[in-house]
Amino acid sequence: MKVINDVRDMRRWTERQRLAGRRLALVPTMGYLHEGHLSLIRLARQRADVVVVSIFVNPTQFAPNEDLDRYPRDFERDEALCRQEGVDAVFYPSAQTMYPPHYKTYVITEDLSRVLCGKSRPSHFRGVTTIVAKLFNIVRPHLAVFGQKDAQQLIIIKKMTADLNFDIDIIGAPIVREADGLAMSSRNAYLNKEERQQATVLYKSLQLARREAEQGNRSAKDIKKKMTALIESAPLARIDYVELVDTQTLTAKERIEGETLAAVAVFFGKTRLIDNTVLNL
Ligand code: PAJ
Repeated sequence: MKVINDVRDMRRWTERQRLAGRRLALVPTMGYLHEGHLSLIRLARQRADVVVVSIFVNPTQFAPNEDLDRYPRDFERDEALCRQEGVDAVFYPSAQTMYPPHYKTYVITEDLSRVLCGKSRPSHFRGVTTIVAKLFNIVRPHLAVFGQKDAQQLIIIKKMTADLNFDIDIIGAPIVREADGLAMSSRNAYLNKEERQQATVLYKSLQLARREAEQGNRSAKDIKKKMTALIESAPLARIDYVELVDTQTLTAKERIEGETLAAVAVFFGKTRLIDNTVLNL
């Protein structure tokens, strides 16, 4: 397995793979890998000949008051996990490499980036689309895999890929959960024991939404009220949002019909957790 830090080296390596007629997959990550990330790598393996994993804690997607500095990092462990999974190359650039002094250019996917997580994190998706566009241009993969865990991110990246004519298949991978339902996340490492126990309310609220919808409740307002009450039953939980939106436009739904994305964001202390599920009626 190659570990590559430099943009030019990465380009040269992927160019050789393409010339040899191999299908290339990219799995972008911020590292501190868990089973969720590994499931993406395994899916990439199935769909391509060569798998590149990028590990980069992207500063532009963190606001100044957010957790960039304390975001968990363990490159050695990540490297070993990638090796175990049969990854062909890890792209591990420095912040200086990706954003040299006087960096000026950003990619913005309008509207979709302002709702849900974009409300409390107004510059977040601009950072995500910018780094992913850069990674696409450096690696030039045939396909890239993203988790449904970050449903809004996946939708925005699909839109950016179409709008900017990147010739890349964007593949969504299912959410991987802990045994008690909590969606795996590098940020779960921030939770103390009580917070970790109470964090199961996110998934429970999504299961409640599913039950309600399946039993014929079509009122988004009523389902959201019930989800909110359930989350608020956890004393340490502070809701950022509870939303039922259209899976394409991310606009709020009044009636639960067709495909609906149920999405929640909840703070436990300073830790912000997100989770979602698609209700398909
Ligand atoms: P990160 O949070 O490290 O996640 C990397 C990828 O793993 C994302 O596509 C995310 O949706 C997926 N993922 C995380 N937890 C998952 C889970 N429990 N089940 C399934 N997939 C999961 O998302 C980012 O990094 C960054 O925004 C990035 C796209 C790398 C751009 O910087």
